[in-house]
Amino acid sequence: MSATRKVPFFDYPRLFNDDREGLLNIVEEVGKRGAYIMQSDLVDFESQLAKYTGAQFAIGVGNATDALEFGWMSIGLKPGDEVILCSHTMLATASAVVTAGGTPIPVEIGEDCLIDPQAVEAAITPRTVGISPTQLNGRTCDMDAIMKIADKHKLAVVEDSAQALGSRFRGKHAGTFGDAACFSFFPAKVLGALGDAGGLITNRKDIYERAYQLHDHGRDTQGQIRSWGRNSRLDNMQAAILNKKFETYQHVINRRREIAGMYEEQLHELEQLQLPPAPVENSDHFDVYQNYELQADNRDELKTHLAAQGIGTLIQWSGKGVHQWEGLGFNQRLPKVERFFERCIMLPMNMFISNDDVNYVCDSIKSFYKH
Ligand SMILES: Cc1ncc(COP(=O)(O)O)c(C=O)c1O
Repeated sequence: MSATRKVPFFDYPRLFNDDREGLLNIVEEVGKRGAYIMQSDLVDFESQLAKYTGAQFAIGVGNATDALEFGWMSIGLKPGDEVILCSHTMLATASAVVTAGGTPIPVEIGEDCLIDPQAVEAAITPRTVGISPTQLNGRTCDMDAIMKIADKHKLAVVEDSAQALGSRFRGKHAGTFGDAACFSFFPAKVLGALGDAGGLITNRKDIYERAYQLHDHGRDTQGQIRSWGRNSRLDNMQAAILNKKFETYQHVINRRREIAGMYEEQLHELEQLQLPPAPVENSDHFDVYQNYELQADNRDELKTHLAAQGIGTLIQWSGKGVHQWEGLGFNQRLPKVERFFERCIMLPMNMFISNDDVNYVCDSIKSFYKH
């Protein structure tokens, strides 16, 4: 019997269909101006991004992976240089280190399922040059602890804040603690474009200038070639779309926090689940809930049960931490991360789901554990 209600994990067509007219107007308006590459919409987006996060500089780039790579290249990684990162992250955090010329060193998660500062400190060797903490699922790590370690050992920090635009720790925005940071505007991100898109922010003028050249064929802001670079410019059309979406960004964050609150309220009593932190006002963390990732007993059966109820869920990154991709040369065990990936599952969390959808998801989970 097929389920009567459908709650897709993320309804990609709705990204366009729900604002068809508004988006077509942007395409028409930008198209009429012939403003495709490095035009005013991109400049506006970059200043909005800098202003919103409180960073001094922002550059629109092709995607967040490139932003991470440019961050590390600007810092000047050399072969053999090690960068410590969390194994509970997208492979991109590590691949950017590799393509920038360094070696990624994955470490364990702490209680909060983000990078464990103690594990970071324990992984430091004479070859360590940096840390790349991931602000995962819209939550910023304990950046006081990370920056203390970085300062003590004189390490560079490039934050992978691909999932964390608007997230804050002790009032400060994700991405503004270290030397540089990335954001992803992949369609399913909290601020999502209609294609690949990313941003780099930094407070360091030298990194800004170097990353700027890297993303535009080695040209500086005056168009003069200063170094070797390549092309990873954020399309002006995507920037125009992101500018429009930025107008309602606070509303989007509020709604995601509301949904997280509903999940918390209805599921917290289930002892078979470990939920992510609830959205608490005036706490150290202001989370934007890019994802609602929990840990569940009988995870695979739960996923199958929810699928039969028409509910889409996701086990992130093929269910593996970075260090578990042995074909990429890793040979280590990180038991907490491995355990996490046996139990993790993401519930629908986006602007397309109604309160009734959330109630339906929660009821379906409760009925699974009752039987
Ligand atoms: C934590 C994290 N880092 C990096 C990336 C890479 O972002 P992009 O697809 O924009 O390159 C993602 C994208 O999902 C991500 O979730």
